[in-house]
Amino acid sequence: MAFRDDFVWGGASASYQVEGAVNEDGRLPSVWDMFCKQEGKILDGSSGAVAADFYHRYQEDVDIMKELGYKAHRFSIAWPRVIPTGDGAVNEKGLDFYDRLVDSLCKAGITPYTTLFHWDYPYDLFRKGGWMNPDSPKWFADYAAVMVKRLGDRLKNYMTINEPTCFIGASYIKTNHAPGIRLPIWDTLLMTHNVLLGHGRVVQTLRSLVPDAKIGYAPAVGAYYPASDSPEDREAARQAFFSVGDEGLWSVSLWNDPIFLGTYPEELYRRHGQHMPHIGSDDMKIISQKLDFLGQNIYFGDAVRADGKGGYEFPRRNIGYPFTAFAEKWPISPEALYWGPRFLYERYKVPLYITENGLSCADTVSLDGKVHDPGRIDFLQRYLHCLRKAAGDGVDIRGYFHWCVTDSFEWGYGYTERFGMVYCDYQTQQRIIKDSGHWYREVIRSNGANL
Ligand code: FCB
Repeated sequence: MAFRDDFVWGGASASYQVEGAVNEDGRLPSVWDMFCKQEGKILDGSSGAVAADFYHRYQEDVDIMKELGYKAHRFSIAWPRVIPTGDGAVNEKGLDFYDRLVDSLCKAGITPYTTLFHWDYPYDLFRKGGWMNPDSPKWFADYAAVMVKRLGDRLKNYMTINEPTCFIGASYIKTNHAPGIRLPIWDTLLMTHNVLLGHGRVVQTLRSLVPDAKIGYAPAVGAYYPASDSPEDREAARQAFFSVGDEGLWSVSLWNDPIFLGTYPEELYRRHGQHMPHIGSDDMKIISQKLDFLGQNIYFGDAVRADGKGGYEFPRRNIGYPFTAFAEKWPISPEALYWGPRFLYERYKVPLYITENGLSCADTVSLDGKVHDPGRIDFLQRYLHCLRKAAGDGVDIRGYFHWCVTDSFEWGYGYTERFGMVYCDYQTQQRIIKDSGHWYREVIRSNGANL
């Protein structure tokens, strides 16, 4: 069992979480800048105003990635840096930054993978109704066109959007993400449809402007896996995995079926038929443009077993079950990286990348000046074993991006969570490669043979 010879090993990040420089060179606010200004929204009262100062220090971070042997880096582009009002005038200085970054990565032999939208939505567009506005798919496609006209000669790997479950579900239902406004189900379904249309239109734009582009997208999944080896439990887990669920819209099938199968899941109509938006005659065709890969962010999963009545249930976790240090208590469940890819590949039959996986640990600088994070190494080793097993069992897995490169602004948790393989001292902006970073270099060097 081995990873493919051309397996892509890398690390991921997102613009608002690392860049800082929010008022520099013509960038205008995103919904996240404005959300952070509101009392009580961010656990430590912080914002991404400085973050890991990647806007100024990207070269240092590219050097670190090179030192660690990264083959690829997944980063996102801040839409309000490039088109500050979201629609209309282009900010050359913003474009210049990504130009420099892409050049620097290419020079270091690190293949750039870009997410066009990772949540920092231009505030001016939000004021025009954001994803509820019928023009929102066009705004997104126009912005994508600007980007690829400038970078498409060097940038060949694209993800349209990151985790729509969060920027719709967490933003408009749970309200713990920007802009944090509770909306009824019919509006969130309308936004869902516009997001999917925007995705499709961006794919069309990319295909016409960069014919050799590899295009995918990066939704998240909390992967359900069978509680035992029995065929009944496996079927139960599959059922749970693709179920539409409640109105939280945390659903794999809702966000993937339209794109890969060209139709919304039937269960969605059963549950929310009366709340569905109008679907134009060409819409599903636009949404289901052929993709080259499915990126999946997978951090954890839950065991599922058959309930003996054709349905499924979630057995209680054993007392003492391990969780990561993250305040949300994500369970350490490596099976997610076996069953997640497997179920997805069976249903959608498209090459997969793990576009995010990792954990937050209570990392501190030790007396020896280093950051020892054995928990991260153990976690990643367990998860990567499972991913390798999935590859060995025939799932077409092309790459793995660890979340994240340096510690960064963790949305509602501010700087209280550290997911990086590189420690960031936010007072001095000093970087320290954690033990896991050195370990990962060997994983990459041996293409996972040393796991
Ligand atoms: C994912 C997000 C990413 C990061 C990780 C921990 O949901 O895509 O930006 O915050 O979680």
